[in-house]
Amino acid sequence: MNEQTIHTASAEETLSFARRCARLLQGGEIIFLRGPIGAGKTVFVKGVAAALGLKNSPTSASFSLMKCYQNRQNTLFHIDLFRLSEGEVFNLGFEEMLENEKAIILAEWPDPIAPMMPKDRLEMDFVLESADKRAITLRSYGPVSDALLEELCKTNAK
Ligand SMILES: Nc1ncnc2c1ncn2[C@@H]1O[C@H](COP(=O)(O)OP(=O)(O)O)[C@@H](O)[C@H]1O
Ligand SMILES: [Mg+2]
Repeated sequence: MNEQTIHTASAEETLSFARRCARLLQGGEIIFLRGPIGAGKTVFVKGVAAALGLKNSPTSASFSLMKCYQNRQNTLFHIDLFRLSEGEVFNLGFEEMLENEKAIILAEWPDPIAPMMPKDRLEMDFVLESADKRAITLRSYGPVSDALLEELCKTNAK
C-alpha cells in the first residue's frame, strides 16, 4: 500500500485535481471515496466526468445509487451508497457493472459493495479542514492503483 495526502483550498482546486486524475484513467480503475457529507466526494466525481467529456447516460438506471456516464471512449459508474447496508445491495446491477472491465468506477460510501469489488483500488479519504480546505489522503491497494497514485503524485507537484 502506498499513501499520499494532497490539500485543496477550494472546490475549484478539487476539480482541478479531478481533472489531473481523469487524464490518467485508462478504464478499469476503481476509486473508493470516503469522508463525511460535504467533504467534496461528488465534486471530485463531477470533475472527472466533465474532464472525460462524459454525460449522464439517459438509459442508465433512474435510481440514484448508480449513475452511468458514457461516451464512445469511456464508461464511468458513479455509485453512492449512503446509509445502505450490505444486505441491501444485492440484485441492484453491481455484479453486471463489474463485468465491464473497462469501466471506471467511482464509489461514495462504498462499504456495502466492498466485499464484491476487486482488491486493487485507490481509496481517497476526504477530510474537512475548514470551510474551503480539504485534505485528501490517497491509498493504493494493488499494482493498478499503485501506478495511478505514483503518476498522480508526479503531476501534483506544486
Ligand atoms: N476544497 C474543496 N473541495 C471540494 N468541495 C469544496 C471545497 N471547498 C468547499 N467545497 C464545497 O463543499 C461541498 C462539497 O459537496 P459534495 O461534493 O456534494 O460533498 P460529498 O459528496 O462529499 O458529500 C460543495 O458545496 C463544494 O462547493
Ligand atoms: Mg456526495
